[in-house]
Amino acid sequence: MRAVVTTGAGGPDVLSVGELADPRPAAGEVLIDVVATAVNRADTLQRQGFYPPPHGAPETLGLECSGRIAELGEGVEGWSVGDEVCALLAGGGYAARVAVPVGQVMQVPAGVSLVEAASLPEVAATVWSNVFMTAHLQKGERFLVHGGAGGIGTMAIQLAAARGAEVFATAGSPDKLELCRSLGASRAIDYREEDFVEVLQEAGGADVILDNMGAKYLGRNVSALATGGRLVVIGMQGGTKGELDISALLRKRASVAATALRSRPLAEKAAICCGVVENVWPLVASGSVRAVVETAMPLDDVARAHQLMEDGGRAGKIVLTL
Ligand SMILES: NC(=O)c1ccc[n+]([C@@H]2O[C@H](COP(=O)([O-])OP(=O)(O)OC[C@H]3O[C@@H](n4cnc5c(N)ncnc54)[C@H](OP(=O)(O)O)[C@@H]3O)[C@@H](O)[C@H]2O)c1
Repeated sequence: MRAVVTTGAGGPDVLSVGELADPRPAAGEVLIDVVATAVNRADTLQRQGFYPPPHGAPETLGLECSGRIAELGEGVEGWSVGDEVCALLAGGGYAARVAVPVGQVMQVPAGVSLVEAASLPEVAATVWSNVFMTAHLQKGERFLVHGGAGGIGTMAIQLAAARGAEVFATAGSPDKLELCRSLGASRAIDYREEDFVEVLQEAGGADVILDNMGAKYLGRNVSALATGGRLVVIGMQGGTKGELDISALLRKRASVAATALRSRPLAEKAAICCGVVENVWPLVASGSVRAVVETAMPLDDVARAHQLMEDGGRAGKIVLTL
């Protein structure tokens, strides 16, 4: 099959399209003919040699895809060959075919094209699991997401707003701030010019923060939390080792959590995907939440797609089509 191959760890130019052996679906897995996949920041880290796939996952890049079911592994029920689906993957999405545990296979939300559907599984599963399953964001609460114009941020703003939260989002340019507002942020904060801590403190503090920066924002995020606030760290763009003022946490009865989706056990991923289908897909089907795709390009342009992600100028997701 056609698949993205590498000449070793390095920059985007190590990526090209070559040939790999077709995967076979094991018991409990489904084989998908991939129509589209999407680029995630984790892919760029894996390409550089910093984020190896978990044990048993394909070496090929790609954490999500859309396509049609080509074959059912032993014991799989509820799906048929030819069904249009999207899927959360532990790897292997940058390829014409991928085998995936059935618990991570999801129907395509009504009214969404397969190209758009490829951009949804990773962001929907990450936001649903962290903001709602871990941090239990409630209607009427104040929610802050950093990087509001990114892949995760665009989904987080829309989902939180659709479920009745008051949304604050940080972004780094006027057009991205405007995008955050258009998606449902009541306050978009320019992280280059403004102090998000001041903005949130004036508003009464954030009940939930979804953070992509890690160490760099740890102390400031805790300062921005309300009493009973919950900080969930999912990214390390600002480093991995920070200092935490426990007394601030104690006073606020606040909590800090951190999670990685890719290495979670299959049962947890299946529960997250069930939650996404039940809670997120109806909002996508009704138009309250949409896929934000900056651009779609052929798989052959994979190196250009990684360069575009690393340049940082775009908003939303980059899709690769087969
Ligand atoms: N733990 C998990 O399971 C999990 C799953 C998926 C993603 N993630 C992580 O989540 C993060 C976002 O992923 P993504 O796919 O959305 O990537 P992305 O589309 O590349 O977004 C990255 C975002 O970082 C923002 N940013 C850069 N510097 C910033 C700063 N100083 N303050 C606030 N925001 C800043 C960018 O904002 P501007 O463009 O406005 O500058 C951009 O929106 C990444 O770190 C990724 O690794 C984690």
